[in-house]
Amino acid sequence: MEKPKVFVSRRIPVDGLDRIIELGDVELWEEDLEPSYDVLLEKVVGADGLVCLLTDRIDDQLMDAAGDQLRVISQMAVGFDNIDTKAATERGIAVGHTPGVLTDTTADFAFTLLMAAARRVAEGARYVQEGHWKTWGPTLLMGYDVYGSTLGLVGSGRIGQAVARRASGFNMRILCYDPFVDEDVITAFGAESTSLENVLSESDFVSLHVPLTRETRHMIGASQFRDMKSTCVLVNTSRGPVVDTEALYHALKDGEIAYAALDVTEPEPIPFGDPILTLDNCLIVPHIASSSIATRTQMSTMVADNLAAGLKGEVLPYCANPEIYG
Ligand code: GLV
Repeated sequence: MEKPKVFVSRRIPVDGLDRIIELGDVELWEEDLEPSYDVLLEKVVGADGLVCLLTDRIDDQLMDAAGDQLRVISQMAVGFDNIDTKAATERGIAVGHTPGVLTDTTADFAFTLLMAAARRVAEGARYVQEGHWKTWGPTLLMGYDVYGSTLGLVGSGRIGQAVARRASGFNMRILCYDPFVDEDVITAFGAESTSLENVLSESDFVSLHVPLTRETRHMIGASQFRDMKSTCVLVNTSRGPVVDTEALYHALKDGEIAYAALDVTEPEPIPFGDPILTLDNCLIVPHIASSSIATRTQMSTMVADNLAAGLKGEVLPYCANPEIYG
């Protein structure tokens, strides 16, 4: 029997990749950088399965280019805003993702960013590396206390709730804005449900945990920065376009807020030379919140599980468009 044809758009951790290679006639994109959209369009022609990453745009045109035999798109990420799931559903293509496994790893990292920003860790490290450390300084790099402060969560899904669990260990008051979640659920994980305006104006730290949708794109922009305390630290481990980067630059430069710690940016990657990179009060890391060895390994095996099920026509264990199953 002919093996199913699969295109894999980047080298993923070996545990998952080895299993994927056994599942079919696999073409692996070996470059460090992702294939361009045009290259992807060519590579998917005739594929039964596609393994992709959040750096790949997977739209209706691409699905049509692949052909009617395309049965499954298996993405190594929990977020899938890069995939047109509606177009996939219309074509009967199952879309897989990797929820759950990265919740705690990402929450750990959101808290790492929060702490690093509050206590100016990146600035301190730079100060030492650049040879400025001459003595103990009584006012040197004074930051903000985390313990006992107020955390504002925007979004209270799995990762937001996991951040709340960490915050409760720091005796933080937790405010939460999530119009899609019942107040009872928010109260049950130790937070107070309130409006976005209240979260922004009362919090010492604001951490974003919403998916990227039409509604959440640029939901934090110039007017939201004006609502925030001038001592506020913004943490973003969700998706870059949730924050208006240009407005953030001005808010940080003009002292409307104190600090931003970002795992994600818009655009991504943030171009070298972007003015935001000149700011000492902005810490940016390259979208690594889920990047622990254990988590990325587990994500890769979930990708293989989804691909295997999809190629056999079975229900995906971790499906982003369950509506295809009626
Ligand atoms: C990473 O950002 C993911 O969605 O898994």
